[in-house]
Order: sequence, then structure tokens, then C-alpha cells
Amino acid sequence: MGISSTPSAPAHTIDLRVNGRDCQVAAAPQTALLHVLRNDLMLNGPKYGCGLGECGACTVLIDGVAARSCVIPVRAAQGREVTTLEGLGDRACPGPTQQAFIECQAAQCGYCLNGMIMTVEALLRREPDPTDAQMRNELHHNLCRCGTHIEILQAAHRAVELHACARTSRSADLPDLDAPRAAGEAKA
Ligand code: FES
Ligand code: FES
Repeated sequence: MGISSTPSAPAHTIDLRVNGRDCQVAAAPQTALLHVLRNDLMLNGPKYGCGLGECGACTVLIDGVAARSCVIPVRAAQGREVTTLEGLGDRACPGPTQQAFIECQAAQCGYCLNGMIMTVEALLRREPDPTDAQMRNELHHNLCRCGTHIEILQAAHRAVELHACARTSRSADLPDLDAPRAAGEAKA
């Protein structure tokens, strides 16, 4: 299934912030965000599945919330923080959710994986320790034709653990802001 062409309406310059970087694209404002990400910014993490907002393959985060980029006009993403699969990590240094899916080998053809990973990522940003029911509910509307649901759910649980580890190591790296004051009090 191919990606439909960009609408023939006049192109506008549109400012976007994607994966922490500011960028400009020339596109008709009603062009689907997915097409701009894939065709103009060469970010091929988000996939074209149904094009109707139903399968989840095109999921990205907009201001940290999962969104279906095939039905969101690019103009609606202006001034918002867009994160794609590429923004979570890369092959050399995958993010915790990506790492969880790798460890659990939660893919057959892999076409749905972008949507699964981004949906789990969005859930864990909102709710760091979700129940199994919350995970199932969140992933309920992401379709997997290959029937890899058991491994995907295992990966979601593993992602919770890996995110917790990442938070712990980040907080261990933080300087102890009270230490200098405590040292001063001890001297006094
Ligand atoms: S391609 Fe966007 S939801 Fe299916
Ligand atoms: S692994 Fe093939 S569609 Fe999910």
C-alpha cells in the first residue's frame, strides 16, 4: 500500500519541532503529518497502515501524547513537540521501550511495532507503573496482523522495568544539592 501524494493545495512554510529539533517544511497545511514526517523529514519510523486513524501504525507523540499522524494535518503540529520512534533512541542506544521490544523479540513482520512502541511510551510517560489492564486497554486499538500480542504485552511489562532502571540511574547521576549546605553546617 503506497502513501497518497501530498495534496495539490499551495504549499506554506510550516515550522515544526520534531525530536527536539526545529525544522521548516513546505507543505499544504492540511497535509497529513505522517506524510511530512516520512517524505520531507525522512523519518520512516511511523508507518502508513490504514490512513484512517484506526490501526495505530503511524503513531507519534505530540506533546508526549500518542497521536495518529495519518489523520492529523501538519498545521495542527505547529508549536507542539513532535516525537517519532527515532526520537526515543537509535540502534546503538535504544530507549527503554525500544530495548524492551528488542529483548522480548516482540515482532513478526514488525509493521505494527512503531505504533506499539509509541503507545507504550506514551502510557509510561503518563503512568510509570500501569496495571496489566491499563496496558491492554492502551494497546487495544493498535492492530497487529501477525498476532504477536502476547510478546507485545510482555515487552510492555519489560518496558516498565527498564524505565524504572533508567529513572534510578538518572537520579543517581544528579548532584546532591544539599551536600554543600550539609558540609557547611558540619563545619559550623
Ligand atoms: S495509518 Fe494511521 S492509524 Fe492506521
Ligand atoms: S508484527 Fe506484523 S503486524 Fe504486528
